[in-house]
Amino acid sequence: MTRSLRGRLFTGLTAIIVLTGAAGGTLAYLWAYNEAIEMQDSVLTQIGAFAMNASTRQSQPVGGVDAESEVVLLELGPIPRGSADDRRLWSLHDGLHNDVRQGRPARVLLRTRPDGSRFAVAQGDEIRSEIAGDMAIRTLLPIAALIPCLLLVTALVIGRSFRPVVRLAEELDVRRADDLRMLPAESAPSELQPFLASINGLLERIRAMMEQQRRFVADAAHELRTPITALGLQAENLDPLDMPPGARDRLEALKSGMSRTRHLLDQLLALARQDLASPEVEETVHLEQIVKAVVADLLAEASERNVDLGFTMAEHVSVSADPVAMASVVRNLVENAVRYTPDGGRVDVGIYRESGQALLQIEDSGPGVPPRDIERIFEPFYRGPKPSGDGSGLGLSIVKRIVARYGGSIEIENLTEPERSGLRATVKLPAAD
Ligand SMILES: Nc1ncnc2c1ncn2[C@@H]1O[C@H](COP(=O)(O)OP(=O)(O)O)[C@@H](O)[C@H]1O
Ligand SMILES: [Mg+2]
Repeated sequence: MTRSLRGRLFTGLTAIIVLTGAAGGTLAYLWAYNEAIEMQDSVLTQIGAFAMNASTRQSQPVGGVDAESEVVLLELGPIPRGSADDRRLWSLHDGLHNDVRQGRPARVLLRTRPDGSRFAVAQGDEIRSEIAGDMAIRTLLPIAALIPCLLLVTALVIGRSFRPVVRLAEELDVRRADDLRMLPAESAPSELQPFLASINGLLERIRAMMEQQRRFVADAAHELRTPITALGLQAENLDPLDMPPGARDRLEALKSGMSRTRHLLDQLLALARQDLASPEVEETVHLEQIVKAVVADLLAEASERNVDLGFTMAEHVSVSADPVAMASVVRNLVENAVRYTPDGGRVDVGIYRESGQALLQIEDSGPGVPPRDIERIFEPFYRGPKPSGDGSGLGLSIVKRIVARYGGSIEIENLTEPERSGLRATVKLPAAD
């Protein structure tokens, strides 16, 4: 048995339709056949009535139901004579009989005229069956035509009825893993309601569980920041003290380790906060102002390493978003470009307005990302084939989530122009004005 409900319904209904059609067809055929046989009997009787008064008394073929009906009128004369067939005919009573003529079964009507002469009207059974069969088969035509039509209509109706289920499955199929919105229950047929309610309940529980986990990460990162800050202060307090030469190096290593850890915790917290369903802050943010502030912030670091950080274009465009989150997007991208570009390289920042969208583009002259790793670059903690510097691997995940949250997209690609290496990050956001 097929496991598809649709298949089962269709098989079942097809069986019913075909069986009903077959039974109905058989009955209709039999009735029509018998009816046609009786009609031919009555034709024989009518011919008999005509022959009673006929003036020409000789055996002859008679046109009957149709030209090929092969009805014959046989004059038997007053006494039995002629062939064995004729003599046997004589012995029959008046009326309709099943007899044999020339070795073939035939239907015969015998009559006796008032003057004592007898005659028979005969018709071969074969031709009678053929005519009856021909007539009966015609009653089958409408039924035979109806069955395919019914099957087609059934298939259409079943297909239509199951469309909501198919549509639901398709909707779930193309969903992103983190899309936990409820399935629309209002438009679904009532049979699907309990099922939908269960799925929606499950989605809700998953959402709650994920929210709980994110909150845990956010809380943990937040809680860890305080002791790390305290430890950092303790290390700073060691600075003015006299210490043997080797100890100062170790103190510096300790301090930079702690600042890395703090940075990691900050990024973790930022990522977790992005995921939390916190109320969205949305205000009109002048993108070029934010980018300029970030670039100014990073200029010192860039010039220290001889990296030429500048603008190719800074059109005035604003987006509707949280300014802190936007600053985090820009900072992570520009910082990456500056950090991963070797000394003496260049980083170009451009802000454009393009058909209702704000475009932020950052190009650097660094090594880019190996093509097979470019897919994974947005994964949390992913830091490339040979991690360098003191990053956390969370920067681009944060960027991606923020951008998605405000209805935008981010694309990162290696520059392919000849004589040029580097990476290009392009952020697109809906412009606010
Ligand atoms: N402009 C860039 N040029 C080369 N590699 C980059 C660039 N930006 C990002 N990457 C690679 O992507 C990885 C992930 O970046 P990110 O998420 O910002 O983490 P982090 O910078 O903390 O390592 C980096 O470790 C680096 O390998
Ligand atoms: Mg980074």
